[in-house]
Amino acid sequence: MYKPSSEPPVKMNSRPAAIGKETNTRLLPADAASIAEAAAVLRAGGLVAFPTETVYGLGADATSGTAVAGIYAAKQRPSFNPLIAHVPSLAAALREGNFSTAALALAKAFWPGPLTLVVPVASTCSVCDLARAGLASVALRAPSHPVARALLEAAGRPVAAPSANRSGRVSPTTAAHVLADLDGRIDLVLDGGPADVGVESTIMSCLGPEPMLLRPGGVPREAIERVLGRPLADPPEAGDPAAPLAPGLLASHYAPRAALRMEARAPGQDEAGLDFGGQFAGAASLDLSPSGDLAEAAANLFGHLRALDATGVAGIAVAPIPASGLGEAINDRLARAAAPRPAER
Ligand code: TXA
Ligand code: MG
Repeated sequence: MYKPSSEPPVKMNSRPAAIGKETNTRLLPADAASIAEAAAVLRAGGLVAFPTETVYGLGADATSGTAVAGIYAAKQRPSFNPLIAHVPSLAAALREGNFSTAALALAKAFWPGPLTLVVPVASTCSVCDLARAGLASVALRAPSHPVARALLEAAGRPVAAPSANRSGRVSPTTAAHVLADLDGRIDLVLDGGPADVGVESTIMSCLGPEPMLLRPGGVPREAIERVLGRPLADPPEAGDPAAPLAPGLLASHYAPRAALRMEARAPGQDEAGLDFGGQFAGAASLDLSPSGDLAEAAANLFGHLRALDATGVAGIAVAPIPASGLGEAINDRLARAAAPRPAER
């Protein structure tokens, strides 16, 4: 029998938030009592929308794969983009990522505030695979909004949070916007009034020797250039084959070395199986969710892919996975991983 060398599969939380079913979403004014309650909801694996100075975020415990899977389900996001892990302080960020001199200078200049830094994961990183989309880097931000800061302090762990809107809609800057998109799909909205920046954070990649602007946002380019003491180069256009691949864009998605074969009935001779719901009974495989739970499968996706890849098998046979709900994002991610690679990989 095939033995993975991976961590044990992520356990289901007592209640994965808002998967497919209607939840009673509570709207609370952001006072001390409701912030404490929101932190408890986060620690229990639930979903909390909270104000930041840029836009409202949809938060989940960044250390829990199933909690993070709830974010994708609630947003109806068709693919797993890596998420920003929000932390209360630079000290907390240093436990999650390795900061270059430039990254440290940017954090000291702009945190707390609307700047996100993409840095290599630290050995002590607690942000789960799904929140990082399987990458060896992590996006970190210490927001300045007092409600966000209090919530992060009380949660006591990084909080993964994309903007609190349904996929394809605009980012919300009020609690009412959040409810318009996500009422019945998340546990709680903390109303802290309108977000004052209104555009998302600036994202800087600090993976290579030169920090790179990945997304313009709340901190202007000129302010960053002043801190770094030099102008920022533009990142190559995504998908432009003529552009040199910059670090950070190169690996914007985790891709296994082994070839992936989708919709497989059973693993072939030189393949390991990535199963779902026990379809490969008896064959050498790892099951994303023996019980056929899509949230559990999402939480296990990158860890299982990595574990199978690490065995050195030539190929990975992937069992059919339903296309509904989180299955759409899981299949999207697997299809990308199965696609032919650029020659340089
Ligand atoms: O202002 C903001 O940044 C808001 C608030 C809630 O903090 N959040 C936000 O999250 O805008 P979201 O999920 O909409 O955008 C996160 C961006 C995505 O474009 C994602 O690709 C990028 O961050 N990102 C996250 N991790 C990354 C990584 N390891 N490497 C490169 N890009 C990353
Ligand atoms: Mg967004």
